Amino acid sequence: MNINGKNAIITGGGRGLGKAVALALAAEGVHIGITGRNEENLKMTVDEIRKLGVNAGYAVFSIDNEIHVKAGIESLAEQLGGIDILINNAGIGDFGSIEDMPSETWEQVVKTNLFGVYYAAKAVHPFMKSKGEGDIINVASTAGLKGGPNMSAYAASKAAVISLSQSMMAEWRKQNIRVVTLTPSTIASDMSIQGGLTDGNPEKVLQPEDFAEWVRDILKMNRRALIANGSIFSTNP
Ligand SMILES: NC(=O)c1ccc[n+]([C@@H]2O[C@H](COP(=O)([O-])OP(=O)(O)OC[C@H]3O[C@@H](n4cnc5c(N)ncnc54)[C@H](OP(=O)(O)O)[C@@H]3O)[C@@H](O)[C@H]2O)c1
Repeated sequence: MNINGKNAIITGGGRGLGKAVALALAAEGVHIGITGRNEENLKMTVDEIRKLGVNAGYAVFSIDNEIHVKAGIESLAEQLGGIDILINNAGIGDFGSIEDMPSETWEQVVKTNLFGVYYAAKAVHPFMKSKGEGDIINVASTAGLKGGPNMSAYAASKAAVISLSQSMMAEWRKQNIRVVTLTPSTIASDMSIQGGLTDGNPEKVLQPEDFAEWVRDILKMNRRALIANGSIFSTNP
């Protein structure tokens, strides 16, 4: 399917996987709205996106604040002239044992990763419903499929995202909104490199561009087809 001329919002689009997706979709002619907390990154990324010949804008807000999420998404929808695609990507990885991680940190991981996905989807839904179609890609993680040591907050938040996304899919497919749940394994980014999960070696480890190609190709499937969920791994890290 040709996605040229569609409008996409990418949360956490100023760096990492979100930025790679923004650039890959812009290269297909998709107009882009990105969000995040760091305005400098957002500005620089918007400049890069505009060089690809599409409209681009940004909104600064923390994804854990429902009122700010709604206002930011509505302002991007107005700038772009509607929303066809949401990439629910913003997230944090805080790792540590159940004993040692402060409860406030644990709560913040869940607020950001789970509530952020919920708030952003809820804010875009009226635009897609009134248009009669849309695509929402929720970025969970393989950590949400199986917990492990020192990742209780992150794994629990991502397991909840998977569950939320499945419910969203079941409710909204009747409105011709495709909801896709992605569970990527480790990809080289600030989160995975600073978190000590990988050295990010581009010869061996998944790069943000690989993730972005995957997302682009999912969106280009004929609208009769819905990829409900999927995982991606490095071949031999
Ligand atoms: N990299 C991996 O190995 C991997 C694997 C599986 C799943 N994932 C998931 O993929 C997504 C992107 O991860 P990444 O690797 O690209 O991480 P990253 O490089 O650390 O980037 C995180 C992004 O999320 C945004 N963000 C974080 N907290 C936010 C908040 N409170 N409000 C608004 N925006 C916020 C950041 O923007 P600002 O800095 O501007 O706030 C940034 O754009 C996350 O959901 C992550 O859990 C990553």
